[in-house]
Amino acid sequence: MSLDPAFVPILPRTAGLTPQGHLSLGGCDAVDLAREFGTPLYVFDETELREGAREWRSAFVPSYPDTTVVYAAKAYLGRAVAALFAQEGLGLDVASGGELTIALAAGFPAERIYLHGNNKSRRELGEALDAGVGHVVIDNFREIALLDGLATAAGKRQAVLLRVSPNVDPHTHRYISTGALDSKFGVSLATGQAEEAVEALAASKMLDLAGLHAHIGSQIFEIEPFQQSLKALLEFAARLKGRHQFAQISAGGGFAVQYQRGLPAPARREYAEALATTLKESCRAFDLTPPRLVIEPGRSLVARAGVALYSVGGRKEIAGVRTYVLVDGGMADNIRPALYGAAYEALLASRADEEGPQERVTIAGKYCESGDVLVRDVELPKLQPDDVLAIPASGAYCLPLASNYNASLRPAVVFVKDGRARIVRRRESYDDLLRCECGDGAAD
Ligand code: LLP
Repeated sequence: MSLDPAFVPILPRTAGLTPQGHLSLGGCDAVDLAREFGTPLYVFDETELREGAREWRSAFVPSYPDTTVVYAAKAYLGRAVAALFAQEGLGLDVASGGELTIALAAGFPAERIYLHGNNKSRRELGEALDAGVGHVVIDNFREIALLDGLATAAGKRQAVLLRVSPNVDPHTHRYISTGALDSKFGVSLATGQAEEAVEALAASKMLDLAGLHAHIGSQIFEIEPFQQSLKALLEFAARLKGRHQFAQISAGGGFAVQYQRGLPAPARREYAEALATTLKESCRAFDLTPPRLVIEPGRSLVARAGVALYSVGGRKEIAGVRTYVLVDGGMADNIRPALYGAAYEALLASRADEEGPQERVTIAGKYCESGDVLVRDVELPKLQPDDVLAIPASGAYCLPLASNYNASLRPAVVFVKDGRARIVRRRESYDDLLRCECGDGAAD
């Protein structure tokens, strides 16, 4: 008995079948996990997380060894994942004071942290300075003034990168496209603002401009937009040569992952080789000293490692129209289908070996929105109440975007490895829902 090969690239590499035909993850029976920890449950495979990190790091060894891989924590952050990636030698991109707090609580080395965000507050900048983060990535002129003031007051120098918007179209969903001229992110190369920002940073006595950054979007299947963006950064660096030297160039994240059977994404190595080639060629053409390359993958470090488990509940058959199968989660734990039209696959974890008649169903959630659909029109064996359904490639941007809509409880998270499961985040409780309410609710 083995898994349908079409599912192999979208499940963690440890996935398999138990003798009873259940899906297994990291040596743990997914049905047992669902029973023990309840559903919805997010299961992360530690081996997949570690191997993915190692693959990203080693992808650059032959072509551009001076590369730093920084995990973009917004894709999924908790203490366990931060500690694991710290052990794997990655840097960390945090996008808020909250993400910084979790990273520091996990013992993530501050000097390997980059603070991002397009509107950092005085408080967040102060927290970063106090913590001694390695780099702050400046997004606008106000941040230059704020950080310069804080650094001067604290008598502390701070290394920074400058985020520029390179005016590149990555051909992805417009909600996750960030490098165009009409974008709230970064200072624009095209308008001359990027150059002004470089001058403002050069004038600061406390801020050290270590390099340039661009992030053009997310889930980008094409390699060329990455090359265009990198080239635009180096052209800009070349124009400022003589006045400024940039020790680092950050190409951002955005590398696509496979969500569906038969729709593979480029391999890490392909992205790495393309970036390295562009960097080397541009440095030669512009006569620049090759800088350190920084990349910031988020999704591609966690998506495949995460599998969401749901329990099947009721069904609604509308003859000649559609059959809905309802599960105990939905848009409160994974809003991506509703928000971006994101497509996922579904797999029956409790009968993963089952062949034979299938039916076409739509997997819908339990929340009060018609758009609360997880997977549309998928072929599955006939689902029964209490069957455990697995949604692969759920490791990125599901939990971080989760909400308490309908006062639902955000799910538990377990890490699995070598047949053992450890809970890294408990399911929320009704008490958690009431924790931030003030007073007894009665009017005075
Ligand atoms: N660096 C910066 C500055 C970013 O803003 C992001 C993501 C990344 C790196 C990582 O990008 P990745 O490798 O994960 O594509 N919620 C959306 C994705 C938003 C991405 C935001 N920025 C989704 O669910 O598809």
